[in-house]
Amino acid sequence: MENKRPEWSSYISFIIAAVGSAVGLGNIWRFPYIMGKCGGAIFLLVYLLLIAFICVIPLSVELAVGKSYKGDPITIYDKINPKLKIFGYLCLITSILIPCFYFVVGGWILNYMWIFLVNSIPADFAQYFGTLNSNPIIPVALTLIFLLISLVFPFIGLNKGIEKANNIMMPIFVVMLIILAGYALTLPGAKEGLEFMFKPDFSKFNSEMILLALGQALFTLSIGIGIMMTYGSYLKKDVNILKSSYTLIFFDTLVAVLAGIMIFPIVFTNGIEPTAGATLVFISLPQIFLTLPFTRILAFVFFTLLFFAAVTSGISLLEASLSCYSEYFKMTRKKAAVLVFILTSAIAIPASLSFGMLSDFKILGKTFFDFLDFSTSNILMPLCTTAICIVAGWIIPHIKQEAFGINFYAKILGFLLKYILPVILLLVLILGLR
Ligand code: TRP
Repeated sequence: MENKRPEWSSYISFIIAAVGSAVGLGNIWRFPYIMGKCGGAIFLLVYLLLIAFICVIPLSVELAVGKSYKGDPITIYDKINPKLKIFGYLCLITSILIPCFYFVVGGWILNYMWIFLVNSIPADFAQYFGTLNSNPIIPVALTLIFLLISLVFPFIGLNKGIEKANNIMMPIFVVMLIILAGYALTLPGAKEGLEFMFKPDFSKFNSEMILLALGQALFTLSIGIGIMMTYGSYLKKDVNILKSSYTLIFFDTLVAVLAGIMIFPIVFTNGIEPTAGATLVFISLPQIFLTLPFTRILAFVFFTLLFFAAVTSGISLLEASLSCYSEYFKMTRKKAAVLVFILTSAIAIPASLSFGMLSDFKILGKTFFDFLDFSTSNILMPLCTTAICIVAGWIIPHIKQEAFGINFYAKILGFLLKYILPVILLLVLILGLR
């Protein structure tokens, strides 16, 4: 007998889980440092325009395709046309690879939560971070622990696992974020931080920024591995997809902006450059926390917040591949979870070690971690997104109505989907390869 497909127990649960997927390291770790690099407010402006009018399209399409065709990405492409199954497999490969570097960062977060909770706090975080990563055991073990934590919930199932975890973690996350952002606003650098974020300097505009903003928007909305298809497939019939997409975009962007409001005042108060880059969160910020009152509490709350954001996204990353194994390959959830654990650890371990023992092992001149990040963010995700846009625009055009509705605005989005998005996405792909 075929099992009944699970459904979200309520619309709100779906929104919370989808926001949980979207809101992640992308918002709190990646967004501020890319914004810092790209000149602040002007980047925010470009980003807002792109996410609201361009990235809403693939997001709605993924959700609508999932809702109409019901299934994991491979099953869905198979239903549309068996010849297109290859794109389902591409989604699966991407969803296997992203957690393998994402969870390494998750492991660092666990480590920082631990030191601020109970350990002695290091005096020099640049040195500490280097020593941590040259250790062959601790970061690997923490990466695997993070994997297990994220895997438990999809393993338990949709309603009792994924929904419950999100319903508990996301509200705590939001409260913590608001408290920290409020605290940051009381610091002396608040005015400068806010100006950096909200007062655009048009002379800093460049075309590279558009590409970075697009890539960031696609990543943060969790587009391009088929998870939004899977989450969409658990939706009830009467849900308005475009409205849901905008709700998701609204909350995701709100969190990214709040993360900026939390981070930039701290950065400016201490006179470090907002361009500090990827190590901002693990080196510069903790270093600054040392100079602020209530270091331990402040830093612990900050890393716990990061932890919740990363776990709720981790859950969705794993559900993407788990749903393929359990539905398309007809494995039990238990077997599928074991397979996910083995595959992810096999790739995540060398990714973690690429900061220490394996730092000399390079693929195309990149460490293994960087290679995973590059190949998924710059190649596989844009490729999968291009595929679903072309398929939706040209092969199953009826999906447009489900995705966008039937008014004038829907017509514009439909036009963009068919003619403009494939071009933009291919451009992202080609320029990203440089
Ligand atoms: N959106 C998450 C973030 O911003 C990361 C993420 C979760 C993701 N699921 C995804 C990215 C699926 C791409 C595809 O951190």
